[in-house]
Amino acid sequence: MTTEVLEAVETPPAPLEGEPAPTPRVLVKSYGCQMNVYDATRMADLLGREGYAETQNEDDADLVILNTCHIREKAAEKIYSELGKLALAKRARDAEGREMKIVVAGCVAQAEGEEVLKRQRAVDVVVGPQSYHRLPDLLRQAKNGRRLTDTEFAVDDKFRALPNPSRAQIRARGVAAFVTVQEGCDKFCSFCVVPYTRGAEVSRPVADVLAETQRLVDAGVAEITLIGQNVNAYRGADQAGREWGLARLLERLAQIEGLARLRYTTSHPVDMTQALIDAHESIPKLMPYVHLPAQSGSDRVLKEMNRKHGAADYLDIVRRLRKARPDVAMSSDFIVGFPGESDADFEATMALVREIGFASSFSFKYSPRPGTPGAARDDQIDEEAKSERLAALQALLDEQRRAFNDAAVGREIDVLFEKPGRHEGQIAGKSPYLQAVHVEGPLEAIGREARVKIIAAGPNSLAGRLVSEEAKA
Ligand code: 5AD
Ligand code: SF4
Repeated sequence: MTTEVLEAVETPPAPLEGEPAPTPRVLVKSYGCQMNVYDATRMADLLGREGYAETQNEDDADLVILNTCHIREKAAEKIYSELGKLALAKRARDAEGREMKIVVAGCVAQAEGEEVLKRQRAVDVVVGPQSYHRLPDLLRQAKNGRRLTDTEFAVDDKFRALPNPSRAQIRARGVAAFVTVQEGCDKFCSFCVVPYTRGAEVSRPVADVLAETQRLVDAGVAEITLIGQNVNAYRGADQAGREWGLARLLERLAQIEGLARLRYTTSHPVDMTQALIDAHESIPKLMPYVHLPAQSGSDRVLKEMNRKHGAADYLDIVRRLRKARPDVAMSSDFIVGFPGESDADFEATMALVREIGFASSFSFKYSPRPGTPGAARDDQIDEEAKSERLAALQALLDEQRRAFNDAAVGREIDVLFEKPGRHEGQIAGKSPYLQAVHVEGPLEAIGREARVKIIAAGPNSLAGRLVSEEAKA
C-alpha cells in the first residue's frame, strides 16, 4: 500500500549560488538476517546510481536507511530506540541548515507501515522489502514535509529493476558474497512473522542467478552463499520454463570457473531433498556446513509450531547428510519457551542437541509476535523459565562449539582468506566449516584458498600456520 502523510516542516536553505552541490552521502544500517545484509548492498548500489556515495559515519550522512528486523520483539524495539537517537541528530542538523533524511526499510517497515511514521515523526520514508527498488522515486517525493509509506508486494521483479554493482563496488565488499535466490515463506510456523513480512515463496529465474554470480566471480568473488528465507525450497525457472531445484542450481553454479566455494542458507527440514543431500557428496565446491533450524527436539512442540516434521525426521536428515559427506558440520536455530513447552519438552531439545553435536547454533527465547498463532495462546511460559532453559541450552551449545573447534587442532584444512587480520602481518579467513581462522601470511593470499595447519583453538576462532605459501589455484 502506498500512502502519504502531509506535515509542515521548514525547508532547509538552498546552497549559495555558484557553490557546487556536495555529493550526498548515504548510510545503510542493516539488522537481522543475511537477507537484509544483501538488500542493504542492493539499496546502496541503487542510490549510487542516484549520485549518493556510501558512508559508514552517521555524522556525514545526508540519508540514513535502517534496514530493519521484526523477527523478535527486541529486534523491533531496538529500531525505535535507534530512531530516537537519529531524530535528535536530524534536529541538530536542521539547526545547521543541513538536511538529513531518514528511511525505515525492511521487515519493521513492512509489518508496521504507517505506524512507524506516527510513532517517530522524524522518519521521511517507510519502504517494505518488496518495494525498495522504488526508493529514488520515494525520496524525490518526500519533500517539504511530505512523508511516504510504500509496503506494496510489487508485481514487477524488484531485482530486475535494480542496477548491477560495479567491479570496484563488488571488490570493496570482499571475496565472499551473498546472492538472493529465493524470498518469502509459505510455511507459517506458528511463532514466525516472516510469511507476513516477506510474503509468499518466490524464486528468482535460473538465468538471473547465473548472471549475478558470474558478475561477482568476474570481479574477484571466490565464495558465494545462496540465500533465501527458505532457500532449499528454491524452484526457479530456466529459459525453457522448466523448474530447477536447489541441488541442480548448485551443480550448475559449481561449473563457474574461479568460484571456489558455494554455500546456502537458510534451509527447512521438509525441503531437504535427497538430491540436495547427495549434492554434498558430488559437488566438491559445496562446503560441508549446513544451517538447518530444528527449533525444538519435542515432537509435541514441533507439531504445535507447525513445523511439519518430528525430531526423528531431523535426525534422519543429519544421518543422511553425514553419510554423503562425513565431515559435514551442522548448525541450527532453537526456540525455548514456546507456549506450553514443559520441562520434558525442553529435555527433548537437549537430548536432540546431545545426539547431534552442533558446530554452532543460535538459540532464542520465544517472543510472541503480534498476528501469529503462538502469540494468541494463553499458555505462555514465564520469563524466568525461558531464561533458565536458554542458559542451559546455550551452555551445551557453547560446549559443543568448543569441542568442534578443539577437534580442528593438528589438522590441515583449506582456508579462504578474506581480509587482513587484527594484528600486523596476519590474514584472516574462513574454514570450510565457517570457523574464523587467522595466520601469519601475505596480503596477496587474500581472495584465495590456502592449506593451513591449525595450531590453536579458541571459542570463536582458530589460529594456524600456512602449510605452503603457495595458494591453491
Ligand atoms: N521468537 C523467538 N525466536 C524466533 N525465531 C523466529 N521467530 C521467533 C520468535 N517469535 C527464530 C527461529 C528462526 C530464527 C531466524 O529466529 O529460530 O529460525
Ligand atoms: Fe519463519 Fe518457519 Fe518460514 Fe522459517 S520456515 S521463515 S521459521 S515461517
